[in-house]
Amino acid sequence: MKSNRRNFLKLGGLAGFSLVGANILKAVESTKSKNANSNLDSIRGQALKQRNQIFNMCGYAAPKLDSVRVGFIGLGNRGPSHVSNLSLIEGVDIKALCDIVPEKAEKILKSIDGAGFTPELYTGHTDAWKKLCEREDLDLVYIATPWNMHANMAVYAMEHGKHVCIEVPAATTLEECWQLVETSERTRKHCMMMENCCYDFFELLTLNMARQGFFGEIVHGEGAYIHNLLGSNFNKTVYWDLWRLRENADRRGNLYPTHGLGPVCQVMGINRGDKMEYLVSMMSKDFLMNETAKKLAVSDGFYSPYIDRPYRGNMTTSTIRTSSGRTIMVQHDVSSPNVYSRIHKISGTKGAALKYPLPGKISIEDNWVSEEEYKGIEERYTPELIKRIGVIAKQIGGHGGMDFLMDWRTIDCLRNGLALDQDVYDAALWSSIAPLSEWSVANRSNSISIPDFTGGSWKTNQPIDLLLEKGGNTGVVQKNIKN
Ligand SMILES: NC(=O)c1ccc[n+]([C@@H]2O[C@H](COP(=O)([O-])OP(=O)(O)OC[C@H]3O[C@@H](n4cnc5c(N)ncnc54)[C@H](O)[C@@H]3O)[C@@H](O)[C@H]2O)c1
Repeated sequence: MKSNRRNFLKLGGLAGFSLVGANILKAVESTKSKNANSNLDSIRGQALKQRNQIFNMCGYAAPKLDSVRVGFIGLGNRGPSHVSNLSLIEGVDIKALCDIVPEKAEKILKSIDGAGFTPELYTGHTDAWKKLCEREDLDLVYIATPWNMHANMAVYAMEHGKHVCIEVPAATTLEECWQLVETSERTRKHCMMMENCCYDFFELLTLNMARQGFFGEIVHGEGAYIHNLLGSNFNKTVYWDLWRLRENADRRGNLYPTHGLGPVCQVMGINRGDKMEYLVSMMSKDFLMNETAKKLAVSDGFYSPYIDRPYRGNMTTSTIRTSSGRTIMVQHDVSSPNVYSRIHKISGTKGAALKYPLPGKISIEDNWVSEEEYKGIEERYTPELIKRIGVIAKQIGGHGGMDFLMDWRTIDCLRNGLALDQDVYDAALWSSIAPLSEWSVANRSNSISIPDFTGGSWKTNQPIDLLLEKGGNTGVVQKNIKN
């Protein structure tokens, strides 16, 4: 990465002159994200890679599991919500909990006290998670650790015979994306990225509407992750070891694309009838990260190594062209003061949908439909998945119910031996947009090919099931969960 190298040389020059310089360099190195895509040239090669499938994991139904025995790795902000959700789902047995910080694992153990589970704890060591994956009595491993650990942990778990559910993004480099695909195909283990926004009610509604032809032919889709995390990223207590700040300090691109992209891809049938061809990304300069680091460093030397880092710019906009001539736009801004938005715009030849600013709206021809018409559309197009479990999911909560809906659906598919809604190709493709955007940003927004992780099977892969004709029979166990 050009700017990365420039920064390194500048600091290298300092180091030659004084011990202070050497110490600064050491401090900067220790705060660097371990997964920084330092070799941007290799991204180009990985993007052009083609390979034959070993086995098609799209639509793959693993043997059904009456009881799904689960282990969790990573119990920070996100992991515990999955533990809590799964503790309420029939047929789940929580067998193992892992976090490098013992107190976090102990806290979550307490939170499910009385729910009938006796999980073993794996803590206190960077590699304790490996022991969890090596257990013989687990079917599924949930991974909610920092981004740069996801792929490594998922591959290890699949190699040890476990299905995996990974938090977003599933991987941070193209090599890792390919590794996930290869391992999932070879082991025939599900590798699902937990893209919860695909289960938000408006997104599911528009997916069903698109399926039924409401929008006509889909022309264009837009998604985003616009969420001001400036304060959280610099806060020492929000993310473990400030991992998220390090990602944003060392990688320049569209770093968190999957929330906006996933639902649009499902509407367009990407990997299932259409495929992404190429991408261009343009990034603004950083207006706020370095300024914040400088301000904080005045009173707290801890932040000095975060001054003059190659921060990603405030706004990155990526545009993608698909094989059948459609376009997708996806944006990333986690620094500017903005009202939260994932956009979710679907534009077709007959109508359109736009979720943000809330509430979501539908248009036919050139006009928004009235409130009454919207209600009618909702009644007609709400998919069975929401009808079956939506009310309970809303009551339990988690981003308005989508988190529970996703966890419930995933367990229900595993218990009924059904294909999962998101497969390893989706995980790899949606995650690959981050490193591909880094290459484009570093190359004056030139275009870069997007790999076909499906090895050509996108032409015949079938759309995901929204009807719950099979399955849908997993109960929700109301237990008293202590917080
Ligand atoms: N889908 C969503 O809506 C959503 C929301 C929040 C976070 N996330 C994702 O969840 C993941 C975790 O984010 P977070 O906010 O919970 O971060 P976090 O820093 O709060 O949690 C990460 C946890 O991993 C643990 N950890 C670090 N190294 C470990 C190791 N070697 N072994 C075991 N545990 C280890 C840390 O102690 C920490 O508890 C990220 O991928 C993030 O993008 C998704």
